[in-house]
Amino acid sequence: MHTEYFKVDPVKPDLEILAKAAAMLQQGRLVAFPTETVYGLGANGLNEQAVKAIFAAKGRPSDNPLILHIDAVDKLTTLAAHVPPNAAALIERYWPGPLTIVVKRQPIVPDVVTGGLDTVAIRLPSSLVARELIRLAGVPIAAPSANTSGRPSPTTAQAVLADIEGKIAAVIDAGSCDIGVESTVVDCTTPVPTLLRPGGITYEMLVEVLGEVEVDPTLAGAQAIPKSPGMKYTHYAPAAPLFLVESEPVTAARLIKREIDQALATGKTVGAIVSAELADSLPPEVRTAVYGRRGDATVIAANLYENLRSFDNAPVDVIYAEGLAEKGLGLAVMNRLRKAAGYRIIRE
Ligand code: TXA
Ligand code: MG
Repeated sequence: MHTEYFKVDPVKPDLEILAKAAAMLQQGRLVAFPTETVYGLGANGLNEQAVKAIFAAKGRPSDNPLILHIDAVDKLTTLAAHVPPNAAALIERYWPGPLTIVVKRQPIVPDVVTGGLDTVAIRLPSSLVARELIRLAGVPIAAPSANTSGRPSPTTAQAVLADIEGKIAAVIDAGSCDIGVESTVVDCTTPVPTLLRPGGITYEMLVEVLGEVEVDPTLAGAQAIPKSPGMKYTHYAPAAPLFLVESEPVTAARLIKREIDQALATGKTVGAIVSAELADSLPPEVRTAVYGRRGDATVIAANLYENLRSFDNAPVDVIYAEGLAEKGLGLAVMNRLRKAAGYRIIRE
């Protein structure tokens, strides 16, 4: 299939172009579009066949449910059977924005969207292009990240095309995504809301509104890391095996240099994803992707997926990544890095 390429301004998008893309969505076709987090792979969320095509284009397991994207808060009640007070408080504060809430669903939501669950994930993005597209389509848009399943999420239209060109009707290019990691997913059906996926709205920001937040046990760091890493856990993975070094900065620098020296000594080509502070002290033959200054988690998040993808066309045998503190966006970044590493973690 030929994939149409539409370019729009992120601040003043051409509505005629977006109307063309919206018409494709209405016809049940797939359109990749920018959001403030990552690029999404959109389909009419009420059209079962269209939603099925998303799973095919991504190679995504059908039991992994999708987020429905809406363009205005008043659409929420068409999809949600019940909006508990905690959910309402989060929405009031953080919508539009990188927050997805999980609530009981209305019967209108197809099973193919929710994987058969009686809940549905809903998000109102702040990206103007995304919201105008959804408004023009006139239906909720089901959209996972627009990558091939298992690969890093795309934060540019070029990354979308690299993965799924020819499998979708169109891509809308509005430049790089601001936040760079996916939305925060919060299950609001539990008595105390549960953080299912850390993302653009930080844990600290959730606590500010809710006072108390449960954290899904699979996110609880070291203790909960699966004992037998396998394909099942592979997400966001770059082309070469990634090892994540998790320690405070001084120890991490020592460990990462030791690992790199050993790999170079065995003749391997080595890549590194590290802070600006560490980059200068690595051997010159290491292919280094600098993710930002240590402690600047906002910048590190914005660069993360392009850093992971930067080794696609500059092949290396192994990649080492420097971990960071799990504060602010650092929690989401570490969650993605652990998955990208398939839980191959080096620490002292
Ligand atoms: O920022 C984002 O959220 C991006 C952009 C495109 O909006 N979308 C995205 O979608 O990251 P995806 O499909 O890659 O991730 C959706 C996450 C998955 O972890 C999925 O398991 C969870 O949301 N999810 C969806 N519906 C759910 C439900 N009913 N209950 C629990 N988790 C759900
Ligand atoms: Mg995804």
